[in-house]
Amino acid sequence: MTDEPGPLAVIGTGYVGLVTGACLAAAGNEVRCHDIDADRIRVLQDGGIPIHEPGLDDVVRSATASGRLRFTDELADALDGAAFAMLAVGTPQDEDGSADLTFIDQAFRDVLAACAEDVTVIVRSTVPPGTGDVLQDLADDLRPRVTVVNAPEFLAEGTAVRDFQEPDRLVFGGPAEATARVEALWRDVGRDAPRIHVDRITAELAKYASNTFLAARVSLINEMANLCDALGGDVRSLAKIVGLDARIGPSFLRAGIGYGGSCFPKDVQAVAAVARRAGVDVPVAEAAEVTNQAQWQRVAQRIEEAADGRPVAILGIAFKPGTDDVREAPGLKIARRLTEAGLVVRLYDPVAKAPDGCGTQVDDPVGACQGAAVVLHATEWPEHADLDWQAVADAMDGKLVLDGRNALDWGALGKAGLRVEGIGARARKEVMA
Ligand code: UDX
Repeated sequence: MTDEPGPLAVIGTGYVGLVTGACLAAAGNEVRCHDIDADRIRVLQDGGIPIHEPGLDDVVRSATASGRLRFTDELADALDGAAFAMLAVGTPQDEDGSADLTFIDQAFRDVLAACAEDVTVIVRSTVPPGTGDVLQDLADDLRPRVTVVNAPEFLAEGTAVRDFQEPDRLVFGGPAEATARVEALWRDVGRDAPRIHVDRITAELAKYASNTFLAARVSLINEMANLCDALGGDVRSLAKIVGLDARIGPSFLRAGIGYGGSCFPKDVQAVAAVARRAGVDVPVAEAAEVTNQAQWQRVAQRIEEAADGRPVAILGIAFKPGTDDVREAPGLKIARRLTEAGLVVRLYDPVAKAPDGCGTQVDDPVGACQGAAVVLHATEWPEHADLDWQAVADAMDGKLVLDGRNALDWGALGKAGLRVEGIGARARKEVMA
């Protein structure tokens, strides 16, 4: 049996901290999750889960029941006897696109003031390259036996628990003895996954680089979709063909209304900001975001022209299925723009809530389509596939459904008398199986 690596205090019980803390506790570690938001901690102490994330409630419940996971709003309590302190606080976007490190800086100073002498601090939040070195310098002045390690997360919303339990790779950045200590927390997680020990800057760049690659793929396939719209091809078959090239691979080639969420838009802009400061040109990374912004605007214009002043329904508010997160959701951007143009917009989502200024949210999908000239399918929730399309057709005051994710069964919609258009897939053709 391996030696226990020692208790872990997770600072920040938001999305990343909660998933990481709960999963590490479920994997056999003693974990205390801390947050300054006492209400959030109370909800968690009472057995509630403040975010919609499939499978997370089970992990939290069993880890709590086993006595290995607890929640506290007192930092000293979380750090009492802790061998590790993990920073999982927010790094919101600053005005110039760079990451705002106020919360990281504050949390790190708070930890230094209250932790044991030789604690290992794990930076789990996404931070610009160089942040860990700055923190280490600060620690060297104040608490010389504290070591800083970067351990980036690659958790996607909606599949975060599975992504944690079955990682493609684990990355640890920092001095070798310290990264080995941190890796021990993952001793029973993803045993077959490559474990990569690197310097802090490479680890910090890893998250930015991965997200920039993925975002660029989505923008590239969206550009191909727009070409298909202009020339008559079908991007679904095109993506299949391109993805069968073993050098390219099939994932992240779904064309649509653009990417959203808390990571891609922010991380791509952060890469651009980091590069500007370093005096390095990164035009490809910058273009991913330019194309992404143009994509939703293009779709909004298409809907505005087709609606011609009549109401529009938008099915899906979350930036992707499986989450209630609406940050940077392209469907919402379209909704806001159409609302500002004076159109009546009704929205539906099985989980997410629309903010003000985007139209009226209704609690059933057919109701949202009542009197609509155009329906936009903005988020590919599985339940949308099973909608009663005849009822939708009867409720609408038009026939056009714009499948913004190319995800619906176009044959079923056609049978209900609806006219379907996609993104780069206007023609009603069968896709290659
Ligand atoms: C992403 C990364 O996948 C994850 O590793 C990282 O830790 C955080 O950022 P997430 O933002 O939760 O995760 O969602 P993801 O599934 O990556 O999708 C991001 C956006 O791209 C969504 O809006 C999605 O709809 C869009 N997308 C994705 C496409 O438009 N087409 C695709 O083929 C794939």
